[in-house]
Formats: sequence, C-alpha cells, structure tokens
Amino acid sequence: MTVSCCYVSVVKTTDNRTANGSSRDENRPLEDNLENRKPRKRFISRRSFLGKSLAVGAGTIGAGFFINTRTARASGALTPGDAALLRFAAAAEILETDFWGQYNELAGIQDSEVPGGSGNPIYTQAVKALDGDMDQYIHDNTEDEHTHFAFLNAYLESKGAEPVHLNQFRTLPGSTATGSSGKLRLTNLMQLTLDTSWWTRYRARIHNPDLELNFKFPQAVPDLFHGQFTAIPRTDADLQPHKHIQAIANTAGFHFPTIEQGGNSLYPAMAQRATSVEVLRILISIGPTETMHFQTWADKAGNAPPLTDPTNGLTFPDLNSPPFGGETFQTNLIMPEPCAFISPTLPRCSVIRPTETNGIAMGVVKFLTDMGLFIGQSPAFFSFMQQLAQEADAAQRGM
Ligand SMILES: [Fe+2]
Ligand SMILES: [Fe+2]
Repeated sequence: MTVSCCYVSVVKTTDNRTANGSSRDENRPLEDNLENRKPRKRFISRRSFLGKSLAVGAGTIGAGFFINTRTARASGALTPGDAALLRFAAAAEILETDFWGQYNELAGIQDSEVPGGSGNPIYTQAVKALDGDMDQYIHDNTEDEHTHFAFLNAYLESKGAEPVHLNQFRTLPGSTATGSSGKLRLTNLMQLTLDTSWWTRYRARIHNPDLELNFKFPQAVPDLFHGQFTAIPRTDADLQPHKHIQAIANTAGFHFPTIEQGGNSLYPAMAQRATSVEVLRILISIGPTETMHFQTWADKAGNAPPLTDPTNGLTFPDLNSPPFGGETFQTNLIMPEPCAFISPTLPRCSVIRPTETNGIAMGVVKFLTDMGLFIGQSPAFFSFMQQLAQEADAAQRGM
C-alpha cells in the first residue's frame, strides 16, 4: 500500500507532460532534443490503472493492483515497477548528459554530433596528458549518455508511461572559461569531492562491498576525498600555472571513472527487479556500456601525472611507487580482480561490485550528492530526485 501511494503521488499522464514546469522553449541542451516529440498513440497510463486499483478502497488495493498489473502487461504497458526503474535510469542519464556535455564543450571534439561549446585548448591539452585520445573518448561518452536518456524516455512514452524531464532545474552557472557555451546547468563540476576507493575495490582479491558493508577500501587519491576541487577551469584564470590546470585535468580524469563505476553498478542492481523481459534487456544492454566507459576511464586515470597543485596543495600520488603500487594500486591492473561473490563459501569470481539491489537508487542519489555534483541545486530538485529514487527502490519483480 505504501508503494502504491508513492507511485500515485507522482504519476502523470502523457497529456500532462509539462507538469513538472519544464519549458519547451528554454535554451535547449543536447539532452532536450527529444522533448519536442509529440505523444504517440495512447496506451494505458500508470495513473489510469493505478487510479483504478486505488478506487476500490484501501482494503482491496493489493488485489486491484495485481489485476490491473496483469491488464497492463497484456496490453503491452509497463508495470509501475518497470516504469519507475526506467524513469530513475532516465533521470540519471540526463544528469550524466549534462556534465559530460560540460566536459565536451571544453575538452572534447567539437562537432555537430555533440554540439555546444568551442573547446578550450589549454585544458584540452592538459586532459590529453592522460591519453592522446581523451577528446575522442569524452565526445563519445557524451553522445552515449545522450542516447541512453533519449532512448529511455522514448521507450517510456512508447509504453504510455511518463518520461522524465529536468529542465526546470537547469539553473546552475557553469564555467565561463574560453570554450564554454555559458548555458545554465543541472550539475556542478567545480566543487567535487571524489571517492576514489573504486580503484582499490576492483583490485581487492577478497573483499566485496555487498558482503562486507563496513569494509573501507583505501582511496587512490586521498586529497580528492577530503576537499572540494574543480574538474574544469572555472574561468580563464584557472588555465595557469601549468600544475594548476593539470591538477584540474587530473581531477576530471578521476571523476570520469568515479561516475561511470556508479552506472556500472546501478544497472545490474536495478535489473534484478525488472518484471518484463524487454525492460530487463534494456537494463542489461545499457549497463555494460557504462562498464565499458568505466574501464576505459580507469585505465586513463592511471596516467594522471603525479603532482601537487601549487595553488591549493591537491596532490596526485605516483600510484606505482611506495606507499602505493602493488596489487592494490599498480596502474596497469585494470581488469577486475576476482572477489567473494554471493557467498564467501563460493569460489572467488571476477564481477561487478556492488550489485546489491535494495536501496540502489537512493544510494546513487546520495553518492552523487556527496560528490558535490548538485551543490547549488534547489530543494525541489532534491525532492524530485528522491521521489524518483524511492519509486525505483520500491519496484519489485512482478509488480
Ligand atoms: Fe549512461
Ligand atoms: Fe555513463
């Protein structure tokens, strides 16, 4: 019953798509291209079938819910749980598109596939210290995120479910450095606190966070976990001295895999609660692209030049030298080491971790919030994201 009420509080029909206040005419970032689409053929909306199940009275909500879920499945509509899982994924992908777009404007390849900025040569060069192809990878990662959210929203609409729009929350000022489009953003890349423990988590040969909730994996770059640092030049004043802009580029180099390992866990965690095989297929087909991003970026982060930023003391250690190095830190160990999985009594296995499904969406919101990605966002933004996350976390197989 709690779950049903939770769903009903945010259900919108396809005829009410601007209910969250987003304007169709605001300056359009990459991720909004799809928002002009006309609602297609009407299917059973989540409101209509949930409304029916609630109308039968509190004592019979459960029974009504199941009947209408069966009806929805027979008609090809999504169960409320599947819709909630995809809506949370779509929101996460819109956020990813927003910050990847900021990176691309400054350090990616500038073309019509990923329009927006005009490039910042000094920052681009600093990012390329990690790999000569960084601009291509940033461009392609940005485009991938756009296709993820656009597909998820279009799929939701095709099933008569409400897509997700975050335009009303596009209020944060971004970089004003050369190359930035200067448009308003959803995410803040200028005060990041990065948990780089994924570096040692994927190198650990025994410990799995799903089995040892309180195990503390060491940080690869402890300073990034204990302060707030910009991952992009905020203004052109950040372009020098050289060690300062290189530290900013290094911060970006560690932000990329930090973010992507989150998606790498989110999709398999959510997939465990999908009801329709097609929704399961979507989740297990997008998820591995996040893994491809993660491993690429994990490899590049290992190339970040060791240095100390003279303006703030931010230090990037040499991860191949004592006290770092070895199996826990050595930079060329980019394949996941086998670890305990499901049960410590089973043989160790090379797997994505964590993949615990309970509370995964709220966990992702907390992870992104703790990272500082939403600094400056409104209370309405946080409550909207929490609502999406709570709905996703309430989804159960078969409901
Ligand atoms: Fe994505
Ligand atoms: Fe991603």
